[in-house]
Amino acid sequence: MQGLITPTQYRCADHLKKEYDTVFRHCWNFVGLKLELANGKHLGVLVAGTEVIIQLDKNGNPRAYRNVCSHRHAKLCEHGSHDGPVRCPYHSWLYNEDGVPVGIPQPQAFPDVVANPEAYKLEEFSCESAGQFIFVRLSKEGSSLKVYLNGEYDFLCKASQGMSHIHHEFRSDVDANWKVVIENSLEGYHVPAVHNKTFMKVDGMQRGYDAPVDHLEHPLHSSITHPAEPGWLASFEKRTAPKLGVWDWYFPHYTHHLIFPNLTITSFLGYSYHIQRFEPTAAGLTTVHSRAVGMRFEQQSPLGEKTIVQIYADSKAFTDSVFAEDGTVCKTVQQGLNSAVNPAVIGLGIESRVAHFHQAYTSMIAATSEMKE
Ligand code: FES
Ligand SMILES: [Fe+2]
Repeated sequence: MQGLITPTQYRCADHLKKEYDTVFRHCWNFVGLKLELANGKHLGVLVAGTEVIIQLDKNGNPRAYRNVCSHRHAKLCEHGSHDGPVRCPYHSWLYNEDGVPVGIPQPQAFPDVVANPEAYKLEEFSCESAGQFIFVRLSKEGSSLKVYLNGEYDFLCKASQGMSHIHHEFRSDVDANWKVVIENSLEGYHVPAVHNKTFMKVDGMQRGYDAPVDHLEHPLHSSITHPAEPGWLASFEKRTAPKLGVWDWYFPHYTHHLIFPNLTITSFLGYSYHIQRFEPTAAGLTTVHSRAVGMRFEQQSPLGEKTIVQIYADSKAFTDSVFAEDGTVCKTVQQGLNSAVNPAVIGLGIESRVAHFHQAYTSMIAATSEMKE
């Protein structure tokens, strides 16, 4: 089929602005994990051009605010996680869990604020979670996160159950439009050409054109399951798994989920999850925030402890190499798109998740362009 997203939509700054005001404004955007906010931490994150701050309230519920001081507009914190309560770097106004300014140096100068601090609360956005996964919606009206995620809600809750810590994290810019980077993650067709030194060298996955199974039932989100190679799996279950012990959710395959518009989650066998968020920083620039999350194990032998440390270290090296390979090829795609005229040609089967993404994207642009706020 022909691609539905036009080359202009991958390179035009005005179109990116339109995406901010339509797709990203009305969808639920992944912003971080609850475990990153433990012990009173807060998190700064850019959501499609809007600076947002996330923290947990007294009940442990995530809350999202505009990351702009009520006094004279300083950005309250940089991107990433920070210890302690929110305190403005400019004149040190201190905000509580509800975003209310509760500590003001020289308060006699601000009698109105001291008398009614609630009126100077940070602007709050809708914020909900599915297990560990926290999402923010910038528009005031819309469906609940659970309705938006549909079947992915249960997947995220189930995946979250045994999550214990982030074992590898990075933020890195890719010189390509966010949709180029997402599409790259949705197909394995490029693997022999782009990953001949990485993916093509690893064991564990069943080979063959029809091994992966696409799940395209939902109009926005999609996923794939790719069975482990039976011989490899039998050996893993006999030799490695007993050492590692028991983890919450074991499955005998690799899986990759796209939660529209810009969150991917991958896992092989469920002992670790890679969570990647693709921030549309500029028309030709995507900031990827990648987290690899480790699980809690029970009945793990001392040898198993060493084994999982090694597995996570190998996975870090592997992820870094694969990311660099994909980043390089995405840049060449963007260079092509910058002077492209014709629509893309999308393959049947092997690229059906790319086609699904084009459908999801164009229908979401159309639906949200009609919306008022
Ligand atoms: S701008 Fe934040 S305290 Fe002044
Ligand atoms: Fe790739």
